[in-house]
Amino acid sequence: MSHNTISLNKQRQPLDHLDSVWLFGYGSLIYKTDFDYLAAKPACIYGWERRFWQGSHDHRGTPDAPGRVLTLIEAPGKRCAGIAYQVTPATFEHLDHREKNGYLRLFTPLHWLNETGETQGVVYLAGPDNEAYLGPDTEAAIAAHIARSHGPSGPNSEYVLQLAQALRKMNEQDEHVFAIEHELLRLLKQT
Ligand code: BEZ
Repeated sequence: MSHNTISLNKQRQPLDHLDSVWLFGYGSLIYKTDFDYLAAKPACIYGWERRFWQGSHDHRGTPDAPGRVLTLIEAPGKRCAGIAYQVTPATFEHLDHREKNGYLRLFTPLHWLNETGETQGVVYLAGPDNEAYLGPDTEAAIAAHIARSHGPSGPNSEYVLQLAQALRKMNEQDEHVFAIEHELLRLLKQT
């Protein structure tokens, strides 16, 4: 699959017939909202975990030296917390462009963190069949990769550090993110 997913997302999942859509953010969407939204609430999805397994050619790296950014992997029994935003379908013009490097949209149940109830929402996922996918490595190797990567949106390390801060503010634990943050801070101190 080509790693530019803009037209693929439009064809596979038309949203224009809806008044509004809940979008689940688990990565940069938690701390970087460069779009308008009608409402925002903490939420989680069950059966998924964050992993820095996706290559970034356009934000935190370059085509020759991709950075590492998040995707979700299936993890039965686990949960991934983030922020859900209620947006108009037109917002996906911007989001599909921002997240065009291999991410496909998927509808999944979102569960509210601070109230009972759930709704269907959209999440961006980058699977192993996209050209920018990097896959697993040790957390130490991932941190070293992130420490040396940068792209048009800035240093790759900033992505991890801002996300870890945002998760802490939500009182959320994420062992993968916090282990990489810890190693990254150690590496950045050395330079
Ligand atoms: C997010 O923050 O939910 C997100 C992560 C990766 C790609 C697109 C969105």
